[in-house]
Amino acid sequence: MQGFAHRLLRSSTIMVFAVTAVHSSIARAGDAATTDLFLGLTPDAAKGYKILLSEPMATTIMKVGDIDRLWTVWEPEEKAKAESADAVERRKMTFERYGWAKRPGDAEPKIPLDYTEDGRGNLVTNCFSCHGGKVAGVTIPGAGNTHVDLTTLSTDLARLRAADAGRDPATVKDSVAPFKTPLNYHRGVTNAVIFAPVFAGLRDPKLGLQFSQHPEMLLHHDMNPPPWWNFKKKTRIYTDAFAPKTPRQLMPFAMSPLFSDEKFHSFEPNFVHIYQYIEELQPPKYPYPIDSTLAERGHALFNKNCSECHGTYGPDGNFPNKVVPLDVVETDGRRFNAIYKERREAANKGWLQYYGEHPVDVESKGYLAQPLDGVWASAPYFHNASAPTLWDVIIPTTFLRSR
Ligand code: HEC
Ligand code: HEC
Repeated sequence: MQGFAHRLLRSSTIMVFAVTAVHSSIARAGDAATTDLFLGLTPDAAKGYKILLSEPMATTIMKVGDIDRLWTVWEPEEKAKAESADAVERRKMTFERYGWAKRPGDAEPKIPLDYTEDGRGNLVTNCFSCHGGKVAGVTIPGAGNTHVDLTTLSTDLARLRAADAGRDPATVKDSVAPFKTPLNYHRGVTNAVIFAPVFAGLRDPKLGLQFSQHPEMLLHHDMNPPPWWNFKKKTRIYTDAFAPKTPRQLMPFAMSPLFSDEKFHSFEPNFVHIYQYIEELQPPKYPYPIDSTLAERGHALFNKNCSECHGTYGPDGNFPNKVVPLDVVETDGRRFNAIYKERREAANKGWLQYYGEHPVDVESKGYLAQPLDGVWASAPYFHNASAPTLWDVIIPTTFLRSR
């Protein structure tokens, strides 16, 4: 991609690319599909946001009180800095270390946007851990969290537990998820897309637990979540547009191995509203001055060189939902290869895909040319976060370490 966008700018070659079948957008009640995806409820975006911050839908990760104790197990130099800071400053350092965002409206960091309190003093990870970012210090729910560091948090929590039990926290190794699944290799990205196949590998099609199954090793890799405000433009979701837009498709991150199938299924009505919240999110408005002469030149160049894949913008904008083969886009193929055919086929037999009624694509065709609304606020770019700025997207540089 990095190479060809540049080539396109120079030569304005018109290229024709394979286009995926455009699947019908979500089937609402009354569509041909037999299942009412919205369960007879009236999807309510405000309710969806409230649910994200008030309904615990994962297992407890820590106590509220741990927020102010984590620093006690930091490396000596960091710990010394925290020790000499006041309580507010120390909390800021804690938020910074783990990539937490302040909740909108909080002047000082309190409960991070990333966690939901369960009413008993416990904190549970919510979707904003990865989907609640900040830009220029301002929290933007729905922006990818480019600071998240799940490994550091999880390791520090294990150290805290060790210290509480009278053991030496320094002996605790870096934490991983069940079955040695890495949480992230780098700050600001996660191996999230692999969590779902690992958790699903522990369950039968109805999602009942069957721990006798051991999920095989998968192709672990760090990923950058797309901003939620572009969900509304998509007919299929995720980097390779392989999945249908349904409330259940948003649920894998609530699939804790400790939940029974009944417990997991009981979250479904919540996801009707969460779906609507994501569907209605608006991109953040660019807050800085715009040079209109340059912008007009850029607009013309964009329409000539980019809109074929990324669509047109403004009131009459049109988004083509184009999936581009890997040999054309030339970005990292790891994500493309990670969720392979047998996994997808197995997924289609299960509850999340409505037993095949709303299947994932068994054969991926490439990566989706993403909508670029709010692109100023969604750095770094590409599905693997390999381009730090927009400049890096269009200059011909290769970001793969292997080449
Ligand atoms: C650990 C990090 C993490 C958590 C927690 C997480 N996500 Fe994601 N999410 C991702 C990543 C990474 C992707 C990109 C995956 C891909 O494209 O293959 C993603 C993709 C998505 C997409 C697709 C967006 C698009 O435009 O294609 C939706 C919708 C989504 N997540 C919703 C949720 C919901 C709802 C929750 C909470 C139940 C959640 N996510 C929790 C990391 C996370
Ligand atoms: C042939 C189709 C195609 C054309 C033409 C194209 N792109 Fe892309 N673009 C893609 C695809 C596919 C991706 C996703 C690649 C990935 O994530 O690995 C992408 C990703 C991007 C991203 C990153 C989006 C994000 O949220 O991470 C930006 C920015 C971008 N393109 C800008 C441009 C610009 C500017 C042009 C014109 C100079 C252009 N593209 C031309 C297919 C195209």
